Formats: sequence, structure tokens, C-alpha cells
Amino acid sequence: MINIAVIGVGRMGSKHAYNLAKRVKNSNLVAICDVDTQKANLMAKKLKAKAYYDVDEMLKSEQLDGVVIATPHYSHVKIAKKCIEKGINILCEKPISVTTLEAKELLDVAKDSGLVCSMMYNQRTNRMYQKARSLIASGAIGKIQRVNFTITDWYRSQFYYNMGGWRASWSGEGGGTLINQCVHQLDLLQWLCGMPYLIKSYNQTKGRRITTENDVTAIMRFDDFDCVFTASTHEIPGVNRLEIAGDKGIITVYSKTMKYRINKMSEPEVNQRARRDYGNKRDKSGRTKKYWYGLKNAIQDAIRGQQCNILENFVSAVENKNKDLLIAPLDEGIKALTLINALNMSSWLNEEVKIPFDDEEYAQLLKEKIEKEKQEK
Ligand SMILES: NC(=O)c1ccc[n+]([C@@H]2O[C@H](COP(=O)([O-])OP(=O)(O)OC[C@H]3O[C@@H](n4cnc5c(N)ncnc54)[C@H](O)[C@@H]3O)[C@@H](O)[C@H]2O)c1
Repeated sequence: MINIAVIGVGRMGSKHAYNLAKRVKNSNLVAICDVDTQKANLMAKKLKAKAYYDVDEMLKSEQLDGVVIATPHYSHVKIAKKCIEKGINILCEKPISVTTLEAKELLDVAKDSGLVCSMMYNQRTNRMYQKARSLIASGAIGKIQRVNFTITDWYRSQFYYNMGGWRASWSGEGGGTLINQCVHQLDLLQWLCGMPYLIKSYNQTKGRRITTENDVTAIMRFDDFDCVFTASTHEIPGVNRLEIAGDKGIITVYSKTMKYRINKMSEPEVNQRARRDYGNKRDKSGRTKKYWYGLKNAIQDAIRGQQCNILENFVSAVENKNKDLLIAPLDEGIKALTLINALNMSSWLNEEVKIPFDDEEYAQLLKEKIEKEKQEK
């Protein structure tokens, strides 16, 4: 049994606290911390934990094995560093931080700590992305030739933006749809396909009174292929569709269904044998298969939230003192953030951005965005 606390019990943290108190095996929720005293008191009373309103106070008073950090983005690094310095294992909500500069500071502290440090990348527990990953890793679809990721199903109305003080501003959140919603898909993209070396992006704000982007069209160049990435949170809710075409097969993943076709011959072999001027004589040995998310998984997600899978994984890794068990280690958190920072930087400068880019330059550009935002208020 591990003693655990949740820091930040707003929309997400309150769910984590409930799951840790009621559902996750071997988890003993002992404390809740939130600067909003009402929220902290309410959750603490409901879940029979102790309420704190200050992180330092809680860390001084409690003997904790783990904490879950579910506060707004800008506070993640500061809180995570404090916990690690006290020898406490951490599970950090996405994103790891707002800038790669800060994320690296955190990773430096975490590196030699020997602690279990994890990210809340819950979509890695979706069995369709896991299947896609194993198909790619096994070579079943051959060499990747092309990737298309279209994400238009995270619809956000003006009402949503009006609700939350810190959301969709450079000063409060450090970005818009990329850092808030698409961080999950950008993590999946790199988890499945690796990291690009170059990005060109066009980010826009459409149809909402916000300062950050809610519409993104980008090209990412990988060593052997390109990815077209499209994301929008303002248009009629559409799809979450990832297509990865290899030279032997093609995978298409929607959020709850997936199909894939694996051919026996690779496209270069088909091409070599083709005796037709046009049209594609398909490799007839190929089969298209379907794969489903599964009713049981969908029901489980609806009841507990997909995030509960990562909570269980974290608690188990802490109990076993084994960070190799983690589905989403903290040090992988910086990869999606690198993509987010590069997408922003490319759009702001109207230039192609090479990865790795200058972390300090990005931090400076963000500062300027925040200044401009303040002046325009
Ligand atoms: N994994 C997911 O699918 C998912 C979904 C939603 C949100 N999130 C993430 O969860 C985090 C919180 O988002 P939310 O929507 O719950 O926000 P929220 O505003 O509803 O809750 C944040 C809470 O943190 C508290 N807080 C702020 N600073 C604090 C501090 N220094 N110490 C203690 N408490 C503090 C606030 O009072 C608030 O109660 C963000 O990182 C967000 O990106 C993740």
C-alpha cells in the first residue's frame, strides 16, 4: 500500500483523487492539496483525506510515497521539483511543462533521483494505438511512407473558454489546442513514428475570443517520410484519424476503431512486377482487418476515465520500486512538448524549425507573446 496525495483538485485532479481513494488497488489517498481552500476541504472530507492549501506545508507534514500533480501547466515543473527533492515519486499531468527549457531543468533533477516519475499520457493505454505500435515495430507494414493525423473532434465553444481563467492564454496556459488537447496525439505520433527533424506550421485563431491557436495545419518531415498534421477545435466536430502508410501495409486508427491492411509484397516488389500502365494491381494476398476498442473498455473508460489506467500503472511501479514498469515515463514527456514548441515557433516566425531548436529562443518568444497579450487586454 502506498501513501499518495493529489495536488490540484479541479476538474481532472478531483477525478484522480476519487479513483485513488476508491478504485486503484494498493493506493492510500492520505492528502489533498489545493490553493482553493473550498475545493481542498470538500474533496478531503468526501474522501477522508487531510486537506492542505500549500504544497510545502503538505510535504513537510506528510510521509508520502507518491503525488499526482494536476495543477495548471505553468506550475508543473516547480511542484514536481519540490516533490522529487523530498524523495517523493511523481505522476505529472500533461504537459510536462510549457517550455522545453523548463522541462529540461525538471528532467535534470529527476534523472539521478532513482524515483518513479511518470506522465499522464493516458491515450497510450488505448489498445488500438498499442496494436498500431506493435504492427509498426514488428515491421508488418514495412517502412513508413506517409502519415496523416487529423484531429477535429476536440470541439471547444466560447462558453468553455469563458469558464476557466487560465485556459487558452499565453500567460495562463502557455498555448491553445496544441498544448492542451493535442499534446496527447503529438505524444502518440512520436511514440509510434519517432521524432521529425523539421516542422513548418500555420497556427491560427478562428471564431473564438482567445489569444492562442485553435487551428493548426503543419508539415513534419521525418527521415524517410512526411506527416501532415491538422488540428482544429472550432469547427463542426469531426474526426480523430491517424493514417500510417507503410510500403507493405496501411493502418487507419480512429479513436474507437481501427483497420489495417498488410500485403505480402512490398510496394517496390509490386512495382517491379507490374505490367500495367496505370491502376494498381493490388497484392491479392493482402487482407484488411478490423480492430475494435471493445465495449468493456469503453464502459470502463466511461465509468473510471482512461486516466485511471495510468494511475494504476504508477501505483504499481512505485510499489515495486521499478520505473521500467511505467507506460509513460516522465522523460518521454518532453517529446510532445518539443513538437508543440516547434509548431508554435514555426508559425510565429513563419519559418521551418529544425529539431532540436534553441530552447532559450523559444522561452524568449513566449515571453514576448505574454507581454503582447497583457498590453492588448
Ligand atoms: N489527462 C487528461 O486527459 C487531462 C484532461 C484534463 C486536464 N488535464 C490536465 O490536468 C491539469 C489540470 O487541469 P484541470 O482542467 O483540472 O484544471 P482546473 O483549473 O479545473 O484545476 C486545477 C486546480 O489546481 C489548483 N491549483 C492551482 N495552482 C495550485 C498550486 N500551486 N497548488 C495547489 N493547487 C493549485 C486550482 O485551484 C484548481 O483547483 C492540467 O495540466 C491539464 O492539462 C489532463
